[in-house]
Amino acid sequence: MNRRITMTLAAALLFVAVNSHAAAPVDAGAGLSKSSRCYSCHDASNVLIGPPWQAIAARYANDRKVMETVLARKILLGGGGNWGVVPMVPNEHVKPEDALRLARWVLDQQPK
Ligand code: HEC
Repeated sequence: MNRRITMTLAAALLFVAVNSHAAAPVDAGAGLSKSSRCYSCHDASNVLIGPPWQAIAARYANDRKVMETVLARKILLGGGGNWGVVPMVPNEHVKPEDALRLARWVLDQQPK
């Protein structure tokens, strides 16, 4: 299960890397984050059940390359321990390649 997800993520990473020269819609992550129901627990700048996008982006600003895969995994599988006592639920409706897009988009949400 975890191995399968890791392999799918690796494939998705390669896919996105190979296709990154093609103009992706600017709001790919923004639209996905809404359609994937992330806003029931997250907001741009306010703490809800989960941490704000801006706080996540600020915390991992120096580890972007590693963190996009780590966060994509966590978006898929859920998990806790980094922000408080409440874990994130697995987001089983999210496709692995979309999890990677979402992780990258979250990492772009630097505080203004
Ligand atoms: C049911 C509530 C809930 C939903 C829905 C949810 N999250 Fe989370 N999320 C959380 C919580 C709680 C945390 C903090 C986990 C921790 O402390 O490590 C979190 C943490 C995160 C983190 C940071 C992880 C880390 O280790 O620093 C990212 C990135 C994230 N969520 C993205 C998303 C995205 C993208 C979606 C939509 C697909 C989503 N979340 C949906 C509750 C949720």
